[in-house]
Amino acid sequence: MRRMKTILVTGGAGFIGSAVIRQFINDTPHRVVNIDKLTYAGNLQSLAPVSTSPRYAFEKVDICDAAEVARVFREHQPDAVMHLAAESHVDRSITGPAAFIQTNIVGTYTLLEAARQYWNGLDGDKKAGFRFHHISTDEVYGSLGDDGFFTEETAYEPNSPYSASKASSDHLVRAWHHTYGLPVVTTNCSNNYGPYHFPEKLIPLMILNACNGKPLPIYGKGDNIRDWLYVDDHARALRTVLERGRLGETYNIGGWNEKTNLEVVDAICAILDELRPQGAPHARLKTYVPDRPGHDKRYAIDAGKIERELGWKPLETFETGLRKTVEWYLANDDWVRGVTSGEYQNWVEQNYTNRSL
Ligand code: NAD
Ligand code: DAU
Repeated sequence: MRRMKTILVTGGAGFIGSAVIRQFINDTPHRVVNIDKLTYAGNLQSLAPVSTSPRYAFEKVDICDAAEVARVFREHQPDAVMHLAAESHVDRSITGPAAFIQTNIVGTYTLLEAARQYWNGLDGDKKAGFRFHHISTDEVYGSLGDDGFFTEETAYEPNSPYSASKASSDHLVRAWHHTYGLPVVTTNCSNNYGPYHFPEKLIPLMILNACNGKPLPIYGKGDNIRDWLYVDDHARALRTVLERGRLGETYNIGGWNEKTNLEVVDAICAILDELRPQGAPHARLKTYVPDRPGHDKRYAIDAGKIERELGWKPLETFETGLRKTVEWYLANDDWVRGVTSGEYQNWVEQNYTNRSL
């Protein structure tokens, strides 16, 4: 998309959404409207590098609030929606599934209906070019055995309340395309990691605990496998699919980086031993804890379709991406302190509430 467009990003104060917005503002001429409810996972400090741009606007809105979502469409007249807002943490979905059902299913439905009403009222190029991009996860496919990869044809077999809610949202998006013709694309991605990741997830939790001399809790035997992708590679893939993905299609996105959790933790400890020798050996902090209920054994994405059709492939290897990530956490004490102290939740009213573009 070369001419300036307005992209409405939901969940833009989260880990991946903020990476997408930083790329749009830094690398493209487009405007971005960030719709985010600012749950515990939303952090406007992650947008500090771009939030003063005249091409960025923030709307503190819950995607389940139909009237407010309709107002945002009316006021900002977007050319595309990138839908990332979600409850995203599997462990929280096990202890409290209600928010997952509400945001991931009811919220996606509410957004789809607002997008459909808005799109129905468009005409000409604006209508033809409109896109609704749904951002989803490889967890909808369930768990793999020792061999094979998830492809776009793999049957859905979600196992956690989180993945079941994301699978439901994928089905709603598909139905809104087939029934109403809404121009949609869907992507299903593997585990992301990188800067600005909330430290409840494996990689940032291990980095920060290791730096603070706290235990590194490894679920079960640590032999579960995830396929890791650096967040900026994901953001680039999302922009590629938004621009050139075929309507009604889904694209799997992954890093071809399968690692056991133990391998990930050992790699973090080795980098920290080098960068913070005073805490070495960090691996002494590894602690085995009871397993996550229903813990999926292995995820691995076949990212061949997006590479063949759209020419996307990751730029970072796991080694380069992980080193950048550890270095970022060591260099960004302000962001880390804001999150760990809870201060980041007071940032909205004080700093970035801004409705105009
Ligand atoms: P995140 O938890 O870091 O961020 C989610 C954002 O959504 C937060 O800013 C939060 O405030 C916002 N939000 C939550 N409920 C909302 C609501 N009702 N209304 C408006 N905003 C709301 O999540 P993430 O890791 O950045 O993931 C983003 C998306 O990508 C999710 O849809 C997730 O399922 C998907 N995904 C994540 C990964 C991963 O590894 N993190 C991998 C594949 C797909
Ligand atoms: O696969 C994509 C998914 O990746 C996304 O859809 C989710 O939003 C995202 O949270 C992530 O889910 P996981 O459950 O794989 O991520 P998490 O970081 O919670 O856990 C990664 C692995 O590490 C998993 O096997 C559980 C394990 N783990 C996690 C934590 C937090 C531990 O062993 N110890 C921990 O403390």
